[in-house]
Amino acid sequence: LSAAATTIASGGCRTAAVRRRGELLEIRRHCAARWGEELIDLSRSEPIAAWPGTSEPCDVWAMTRRYPPIAGLPAARAAVARAYAQQLGCELTEHDVVLVPGALAGITVALLALVDGGEVLVPVPCYPPSLAQVELAGAVPLAIDTEPTGWRLTPEAVERARGPRTRALLLSNPANPTGVVYTAGELRQLAAAAGPEVLLIADEVYGEFAYDGPAASLAGVLGRERDAWLVVRSASKTIGRPGLRVGALLGPRDLLAQVAAVAASFVGGVSVPAQLAFSAALPAVRGSDHMRPYRRRREQVLARLAAIGFEAHAPQGTYYVWAGGPPGMRLGTSAGVRELADRAGVIVAPGEHYCGSSRHLRISLSVRAAELAAGLDRLAAA
Ligand SMILES: Cc1ncc(COP(=O)(O)O)c(C=O)c1O
Repeated sequence: LSAAATTIASGGCRTAAVRRRGELLEIRRHCAARWGEELIDLSRSEPIAAWPGTSEPCDVWAMTRRYPPIAGLPAARAAVARAYAQQLGCELTEHDVVLVPGALAGITVALLALVDGGEVLVPVPCYPPSLAQVELAGAVPLAIDTEPTGWRLTPEAVERARGPRTRALLLSNPANPTGVVYTAGELRQLAAAAGPEVLLIADEVYGEFAYDGPAASLAGVLGRERDAWLVVRSASKTIGRPGLRVGALLGPRDLLAQVAAVAASFVGGVSVPAQLAFSAALPAVRGSDHMRPYRRRREQVLARLAAIGFEAHAPQGTYYVWAGGPPGMRLGTSAGVRELADRAGVIVAPGEHYCGSSRHLRISLSVRAAELAAGLDRLAAA
């Protein structure tokens, strides 16, 4: 085991993920009962807007009399390929796309199909289910702590952590919870440091959520240059509809064929109405500024957090702010968050859930501005 990376005890990630999710749900339930409409929840992950803005009813029953193709309806895959080819600046056809029931399922199926035992490198803090997903696929998650390098995964850290059993590197870009956005140059360097055999999986569900223009996509950066890469996108953030449960894997077609083969005995394709809604809605987000609601909120939150002694880290993407509390404040733990919520009626997401420190927390900007300001007042007074 390299000193640069930490393995988590076998099975530990799955049980920890279940326990932590349960703890946060319980905090929400308990505090909703106690605070009622006064409760301010800054821990949620849905975006503030949805595209398209109107809802078009469709005849769901008529679409559901046949099993859909495992990889998605050809017309829906082609429409998704066209939309992402344009948006990400790469060549994609329907054969370079597999539709999946959300990014979560997509990543898990991809890991099951393509990571045969071995180790998967995961920069932390990370999206909470990532480590459990690796375990589910029968591999060992190797967590690389990014705190010492300003929350960015570096090629040097990848080189130090990589070993003969490394099969994949799973990173989110833009990154949840830290808001880091990797440049095209950084993605190339990380790919080079991982080596040609290592599968790079870029979870780009926040791909449109970057403050300084579009985030570089692994699909545009590596495209045909490399055989071992996958990109994951999703309706949950891109069109603001997490209830649809649909997303897309983009990548080289022989890898996608292996993923579809596993999906055949696992998820069995994607709900047809969801496929059609996603593929029809993607063109509606072209040219839209996903960050518009968040820019002012970001500045306000950063200024306020600094004023109350938090070490706030300016996000380049996502709609979260990752911040370290003053010494002694343990808001990064479930117990600390529960105590704050109980006392002050404001819920934040604890850093430990993201494999971060017990000092850190994640604040969502995806709430009404007045609620955000009131939530910060309560945090300051706590
Ligand atoms: C980094 C990351 N990946 C994946 C997901 C889940 O995506 P989906 O709803 O498509 O399963 C989330 C949701 O918050 C996320 O933050």
